[in-house]
Amino acid sequence: MILPIYVYGHPILRRQAADVSLTDENLKTLIEDMYETMYHANGVGLAAPQIGKSLRLFVIDSAPYKEFYPNEDARKITFINPTITTRTGEEFPFNEGCLSLPEIHEDVMRQPAIDITYFDETLNQKTEHFEGVLARIIQHEYDHIEGMVFTDKLSSLKKMILKRKLSDIATGKTKPGYKIKNQ
Ligand code: NI
Repeated sequence: MILPIYVYGHPILRRQAADVSLTDENLKTLIEDMYETMYHANGVGLAAPQIGKSLRLFVIDSAPYKEFYPNEDARKITFINPTITTRTGEEFPFNEGCLSLPEIHEDVMRQPAIDITYFDETLNQKTEHFEGVLARIIQHEYDHIEGMVFTDKLSSLKKMILKRKLSDIATGKTKPGYKIKNQ
């Protein structure tokens, strides 16, 4: 089922999300709905708070980047109760967008490599090292479960320039090609 995407201004995006109960019988359906919602909106990642669930859960599929970064693995991964244990390397800028911030694309500084522990959709616990586009997408989604969005990481000047666009999103004036919920 395609779910509405909660956009900038909705308080759920600002909450520190809670752990997922691994015995929750609705978990499988929730994950399926998140993938369906993400693909419908042409996203490469979607976190549970973005569909109105304040849970430590996100899904990613880096396949659309394969065309531009042929040397990188295209991966589809479900992250349940993840913890980023290390972030390494020098921060660098990369242009990011977000389904909760339609029509905003900005360079965001992040480190290039991470180690993350998580449960996959079969509830196997894993620890993996990620670099490149995957490390970028994962850190972006991880911010969502910590109550952050990428514009938080921009300079105060950049934030000032984006003020109007952000308020248009928060007031429901910005209409992307998918269903949104702003309050
Ligand atoms: Ni996002």
